Amino acid sequence: MAEPTNSKPRVLSGIQPSGNLTIGNYLGALKQWVEVQSDYDCFYCVVDLHAITAEQDPDELRRKTRESAAIYIAAGINPEVSTVFVQSHVPAHSELAWMLTCMAPLGWLNRMTQFKDKSARQAQESIGAGLLNYPSLMAADILLYHAELVPVGDDQRQHLEFTRDLAQRFNHLYGETFTLPSVMTPKAGARVMGLDNPTAKMSKSEESENHAVYLLDDLSRARKKIMRAVTDSHREIRFSDERERAGVNNLLTIYQAVTGESRAAIESHFAGKGYGDLKRDVADCVVATLEPLQGRYNELMNEAGYLDSVLKVGREKAAAIAEDTLKLAQERIGFLAPS
Ligand code: TYM
Repeated sequence: MAEPTNSKPRVLSGIQPSGNLTIGNYLGALKQWVEVQSDYDCFYCVVDLHAITAEQDPDELRRKTRESAAIYIAAGINPEVSTVFVQSHVPAHSELAWMLTCMAPLGWLNRMTQFKDKSARQAQESIGAGLLNYPSLMAADILLYHAELVPVGDDQRQHLEFTRDLAQRFNHLYGETFTLPSVMTPKAGARVMGLDNPTAKMSKSEESENHAVYLLDDLSRARKKIMRAVTDSHREIRFSDERERAGVNNLLTIYQAVTGESRAAIESHFAGKGYGDLKRDVADCVVATLEPLQGRYNELMNEAGYLDSVLKVGREKAAAIAEDTLKLAQERIGFLAPS
């Protein structure tokens, strides 16, 4: 196996540059990434190979890829400590993904709820094969780095189980090659729901105006979206699993994820208050998070060459590890080494 670059256990995670990053991406993923970066050897990639499972405009994809990397850093990822890179800059991801695709049973792939949801919205004949094979690529991302921990939102849990199953299958057939990763999800904010439809997950590809707060939203716009969030006709402000109270529960969960306060403390803070107060407080704490993030984002986008140099160093560090693992997997599977 590849020797770790430092003695800390590895972390790998990624976000698709397929739209505007939302507070769901921040609370479910980025915030955890920042929290683990001093205890782990972290690799954070912008997963552009995943993004092309849906049609992308080429210029827009390039722009979003840089924007996403800059958001990682603006959110608190320190490129001196963690490795930030672009997935397609390290060809080993595609190469291992093919090998894993060949050993991924269709039955496992067909069971993936994300595939079922996404493909249900398209005509059967036009669904790209990449959408089905997507979890094998995600498994390659993780296994190439021998990641022990993968910080993600709730919707990626099943893909992590798939990754473990596939790694076990490979190890069983060809000998110990891959490390089995564990999933890490946050206590609050692992599944942030749409503000306009709190029974559906907040998504960066949903187009309706008041669905999501984007990390780069103008602050007054972000506030407005939260003030317009769907609630209910009750009055009491408390956490609840009831479907009809999903809107208030979502706002409380966002508040909990941002402030880190306990549920009991939050419920007593809002006792006797109205939904207007709840929305105002949620908007205040979200805006207080976005403001410095946007400040750093603008600063680093204005620093000519900075982002590209981070991504260059990231690519080199990532490729060195990924290529070693790929070589080992190729050898195990029986590919003739080039002379
Ligand atoms: P993606 O791009 O859909 O989302 C990126 C991360 O954000 C989390 N997330 C959310 N968390 C809470 N509430 C939400 N509403 C919400 N929406 C998104 C996701 O769980 C994810 O952690 N397949 C992955 C990207 C990926 C990856 C990987 C992740 C590719 N390779 C390897 C980890 C390791 C995806 O599509 O995430």
